[in-house]
Amino acid sequence: MELSKKVGKAELNYDGKVYPFDVMEGTEKERAIDMRALRKETGAISFDPGYANTGSCHSEVTFIDGEKGILRYRGYAIEDLAVNCTFIEVAYLLVHGTLPTQSQLSKYSRLLNRHSLIHEDMRNFFENYPEHAHPMAILSAMVVSLSSFYPELDSSSSEEELDLTVARLLSKMRTLAAFSYKQSVGEPHVYPSSKLTYVENFLNMMFYTPVANYEITPVLVRAMNKLLILHADHEQNCSTSTVRMVGSAGANLYASIAAGICALWGPLHGGANQAVIEMLEYIHKEGSGVEEMVKRAKDPDDSFRLMGFGHRVYKAYDPRARIAKTSCEEVLNQLGIEDPLLGIAMELEEKALNDPYFKERNLYPNVDFYTGITLRAMGFPMNMFTVIFALGRLPGWVAHWLELKNDPDKRIGRPRQVYTGPVHREFVPIEKRG
Ligand code: CMC
Repeated sequence: MELSKKVGKAELNYDGKVYPFDVMEGTEKERAIDMRALRKETGAISFDPGYANTGSCHSEVTFIDGEKGILRYRGYAIEDLAVNCTFIEVAYLLVHGTLPTQSQLSKYSRLLNRHSLIHEDMRNFFENYPEHAHPMAILSAMVVSLSSFYPELDSSSSEEELDLTVARLLSKMRTLAAFSYKQSVGEPHVYPSSKLTYVENFLNMMFYTPVANYEITPVLVRAMNKLLILHADHEQNCSTSTVRMVGSAGANLYASIAAGICALWGPLHGGANQAVIEMLEYIHKEGSGVEEMVKRAKDPDDSFRLMGFGHRVYKAYDPRARIAKTSCEEVLNQLGIEDPLLGIAMELEEKALNDPYFKERNLYPNVDFYTGITLRAMGFPMNMFTVIFALGRLPGWVAHWLELKNDPDKRIGRPRQVYTGPVHREFVPIEKRG
């Protein structure tokens, strides 16, 4: 792995002493102050809730410039990848570091197809979930269960074993996702087919039933590929950092990814795509104007936030949201669907972007703002939206887990705290407590 260069020194003047720290620079000229010796040298720790200023690792996977609205996977612009690639090409890029040649891609696709089934014993697990169980709950449990059916990677694993394990996970998680949905609606599971591509298979496993044929159209396949590519990685976001944190303790790939799925479920993260549609539906059903939502989002005494708006890193328009918006309009047009929620979303965006509160705070639509409307038009129920985000994010999680595994600076993730609880108290036996 390429490490950053030392480009100078920063000094900390603390408690009457000056402490020098190295300044590091990455390939895109981002700078960091190396604080690894801070506590040892000064006795103090850095305080950074939410880790907004904390670089936890070196990484070669994804670059984001939040001020300019730039997103690149392994150096390639998201705009180029979304238009020209399939999701599997992008997954290969993230995991292997280079775009595949035609023959590498064909070989990889065959590998994915060969490993798309799940162990038949695992299918029984689905039966015990209650009706309407959230597919994210089922998915996370099923992914960690894969570790009891398939071998793990270790330090002696060959390149081939690594490829096989990753292909297994990519392929089986898609099958598990579709089975989770079928379970939640009480329909028979549909097996993957070697005649279909990754995305075609997913759509077929989701929507085919023995009593109603399902036509896999190029519009749907293109839109699905694009959606998955938009979600494929986003450097050290909450779920990816969770995958790395769990992986740093030495947990296996399946356990680390299952933890990432759970982190993604939160409405401030991947769960936002579902929350956006709930918000738009509320506006539609209740007839409450978008002004009211904008007003509530600005009210410091109201916990309501405009879902699908704002981002920790982007202080400009999220490039993924721009692509998602165009794709959403295309899909609705091509399918001949008029969804009133699209009109509401556009009105909401316009109002917010012209409002001083949102302008001052650089709050723009994020990737989740338009994706839910597209997924709805494609026939996905709301509780599958975050599952699709997870499928998209999987190659990114894997790339980071592998990167961590080979990182010379790797240490167990273990932040510190500033303790504010009681100081030492005399113990009181239970009979004397009043
Ligand atoms: N609506 C109203 N106000 C907002 C919003 C919003 N969606 N987002 C941020 N703000 C305000 C926030 O109240 C704060 O105001 P003030 O400075 O007056 O206290 C200011 O903007 C800065 O916000 P923050 O909470 O410090 O920002 P953060 O970086 O900690 O949180 C976020 C980022 C994405 C969690 C937040 O913007 C949010 O809750 N958005 C809605 C949920 C959402 O859409 N999440 C999906 C994120 S993109 C997909 C993904 O990667 O998961």
